[in-house]
Amino acid sequence: MSCINFNEVKLFEDTDTDTNIIRSIIDKEHDTTQEPFCILDVADMMQKHKNWMSKMPRVIPHYAVKCNSNPMVLKILAAMNCSFDCASEEEIKQVMELGVSVKRIIFANPTKWSIQIKFAKKVNVDVMTVDGELEILKIKDVFPEAKIVIRFRCDAKGSLVSLGTKFGCDPDDEAVRLIHLTKSLGLTLWGFSFHVGSPCGDLSAYSRGIEICKKLMGVAKSIGCENVQLIDIGGGFSGNRDYCIDKAANIINDAIKDIDPSIKIISEPGQYYVTSAFTLASYLHTKRVVSSGEKMIRMYFMSCGVYNCFIEELLNLKARLPVPLDKPASDEKFPSSVWGPTCDSLDCILKDVMLQEFHIGDWLIWTDMGSYSISVSSPFNGFNAPKIYPFARKSQWLV
Ligand SMILES: Cc1ncc(COP(=O)(O)O)c(C=O)c1O
Repeated sequence: MSCINFNEVKLFEDTDTDTNIIRSIIDKEHDTTQEPFCILDVADMMQKHKNWMSKMPRVIPHYAVKCNSNPMVLKILAAMNCSFDCASEEEIKQVMELGVSVKRIIFANPTKWSIQIKFAKKVNVDVMTVDGELEILKIKDVFPEAKIVIRFRCDAKGSLVSLGTKFGCDPDDEAVRLIHLTKSLGLTLWGFSFHVGSPCGDLSAYSRGIEICKKLMGVAKSIGCENVQLIDIGGGFSGNRDYCIDKAANIINDAIKDIDPSIKIISEPGQYYVTSAFTLASYLHTKRVVSSGEKMIRMYFMSCGVYNCFIEELLNLKARLPVPLDKPASDEKFPSSVWGPTCDSLDCILKDVMLQEFHIGDWLIWTDMGSYSISVSSPFNGFNAPKIYPFARKSQWLV
């Protein structure tokens, strides 16, 4: 897309490792600030998109902006012709400013402010999800031309975060009632969606969800909803370095193989695209060694904490371990805790772990930092979100 400017992408040699790249940024820009920062490997995101398109060509990804709304992330995906899942007016604006057609946006928040539905009408983002009667009535009132997608609950066992506790109608009686309601109000029923939870703990939930979509489409068609044409399988695909999408792709491809080609199948992956692309460097500014019973605990205080990047640690969803930028003198490990920079005792990233000995002035490196991290950060206590440095290796960029 010609309107997109990629000047901010720093280019490195193919032989440069992430460690070299981080070191060069520290030397040039961070040795005096001690601020945390992330490197963003844009080629990693591009590869993820290519992989998705080759493994599940029929499932059109709509990147879930909430996961990481960094402008470079959105630019790269927009340039690769990805579509978008937006949850608010602000997210829709952010995506539209990149020149993305409204046809490539789904307003996938089942509980929308009526004022934001009015905005969606103004800009013609007309595909939107609902999961209850009152939401349908709200849309009837504000944007009766909207294309309605009914979201039902389809939790996978073992997903770390179950979205079904907040969203999704019951897939049986309630979904059928909502189908009838859209019909009786003269609204356009466009399709069905679900989200198996994040990241998905049991891949069979995708086939279960797809089967329910097929059944509900049959119900809708049987009462004359002629416009039904969309299945949205949501997100839930891990984005970690070691994740391979093949298993999920096989299960999903198998579940959709008999679906009529006139039916559009989309997804809303968030973390899949960004988790592994972001690596964080944080500065160790303070250390205390305290006794606890028989043990001596090393307490490390870093320039980035649960309010800047590690909200998932605050919520006990993750427990990532750091690697020091410079190899420690010894591999011996000691009982340790790692804390963020604020004056809040909840600002603790790791409570009781075995780590090598670190020192004031060390930089600690954290991988898989791209999802639900920077996008949920707050400037609490005057500590800001890490600065982002997008980069690529020459042969992956200059093609
Ligand atoms: C409606 C919706 N779609 C997609 C996503 C993205 O999920 P994930 O990051 O697991 O792919 C979420 C996450 O909260 C969501 O609420």
